[in-house]
Amino acid sequence: MDKEGSPIYDVVGIGFGPSNLSLAIALDELRSDETGEPPAAAFFERNSSFSWHRNMLLPAAKMQVSFVKDLVTFRNPTSPYSFVSYLHERGRLPQFINNHDFFPTRREFHDYLEWVASRFSHRVQYDSQVTEVTLPHEADTDRPAEHVRIRTGTDPVHGTPAYVSARNVVISTGLVPKMPIGVERDERVCHSSEFLERFRGWDKRGLKRIAVVGTGQSAAEIVRFLYDSVPDATVTAVLPAYGYPIADNTPFANQVFDPAAVDDYYYGMDDSKDVLWQYHKNTNYSVVDDEVIRDLYQRVYGDEVRGQERIRFMRLSRVTGVKRVADDTRVTVHSMATDQVTDIDVDAVVCATGYEPMDPAGALGGLEKYCVRDEQGRYRVERDYRLTTTPHLRCGIYIQGGTEHTHGLSSSLLSNIAVRSGEIARSIADGLTAAPVRTS
Ligand code: FDA
Ligand code: NAP
Repeated sequence: MDKEGSPIYDVVGIGFGPSNLSLAIALDELRSDETGEPPAAAFFERNSSFSWHRNMLLPAAKMQVSFVKDLVTFRNPTSPYSFVSYLHERGRLPQFINNHDFFPTRREFHDYLEWVASRFSHRVQYDSQVTEVTLPHEADTDRPAEHVRIRTGTDPVHGTPAYVSARNVVISTGLVPKMPIGVERDERVCHSSEFLERFRGWDKRGLKRIAVVGTGQSAAEIVRFLYDSVPDATVTAVLPAYGYPIADNTPFANQVFDPAAVDDYYYGMDDSKDVLWQYHKNTNYSVVDDEVIRDLYQRVYGDEVRGQERIRFMRLSRVTGVKRVADDTRVTVHSMATDQVTDIDVDAVVCATGYEPMDPAGALGGLEKYCVRDEQGRYRVERDYRLTTTPHLRCGIYIQGGTEHTHGLSSSLLSNIAVRSGEIARSIADGLTAAPVRTS
């Protein structure tokens, strides 16, 4: 216990998505030589149960990484928490392999993640949003702080703020949805990250004209879903590109997601980082899987044969505003081809306009000022994903996500999650062994 009576953990994880779930396993599998025990870890998640982009669990949506890039296999192929172990326990291993497909549906992968999360339920507290991390009250400025205090919500019994303390914090709070500049959400205007929940609430009889904004994977999947699920509706796809650009998942390009690519990026010159982004951004951003593009094209062509138009494209165009006009939602679209602005009136708008990178500042609160930034204002991050901090802190602050500027393209993705969480777990364990003071 710390001086305020809160428990002190070796590690506290903020967020319990795939990144920290993978870390929970890595810590568990890394038992101390001395005690045979894993580091004492607790995770805090704001959702009421495990959830991985639940509002985009569209029926036909498939994974964008191989099932072998699960939470563990690239680090420990013998782990009991692999996708193969999950299939085996579900009695579906032969059926899965007979399918000859590296890419499960997102629904099946979600079931896998829930299956693993249920095995770590003793480590996680749901309905618990972390709002700040601070130095302990007794911290004196001459000695670096050995642990930090984390506000994990409100004590359900006393209604007072609830805290825990930790020697290490791992922030894995995920991508932040991005709306077009100046566009506000309302009951008919949403971001793709809210899509399924909002769609379920919409009266389908009044849903005849829908706009979907963007040329990324989310946009294309939503257009396909709406076409299939609301047969009376016309979908206007507002595309900044001419058509949906393809995601490059060819073998050489895919090497940017290999564990070795993290070193090449991290230790590379700034110019090489820029070149890598220039050539390989199209493995992930503003691009769509070949299969979804072809699926959509078949629908459009079928409509052409039937002499109807249910998907309308506004190409080379960007949304510049959305406002309510009587019962309609008016979307203002700027065409880059003609420099003209056109208003279209619709019943609903889905902005599949992407995400900002994970930003630890919100969860860090008061501790943010001890984290060192580079000349461009970005966090300095060590190779082991530990934020560089001022001498006021001895405890480790690690991040998963938000490291594209230091660790490269796989930072926000699942590709390297098993190896990354192993590296963080090892760094934490080494730090604990070296730590001079163990108070709990
Ligand atoms: P993730 O966002 O999954 O989890 C963060 C968790 O932190 C959330 O549960 C959130 O509620 C919680 N949280 C946030 N703030 C908190 C706070 N203050 N206190 C407590 N909890 C807090 N990548 C890939 O490689 N292959 C793929 O197939 C896909 N598919 C995919 C589909 C869709 C629709 C999207 C939007 C993204 C993907 N991705 C992907 C990329 C995606 O970033 C990745 O799959 C993981 O979600 C990354 O896992 P994290 O745990 O880092 O974030
Ligand atoms: P994204 O790839 O960042 O795409 C966002 C799109 O919105 C881009 O085309 C962007 O164009 C466009 N956009 C932004 N502002 C706009 C505006 N004002 N008007 C018109 N268009 C605008 O985002 P995403 O599709 O949500 O994908 C994010 C991540 O999730 C990716 O890693 C993706 O692979 C993943 N994902 C995976 C699945 C799956 O596994 N099945 C499903 C969905 C998403 P510009 O680039 O020109 O700004």
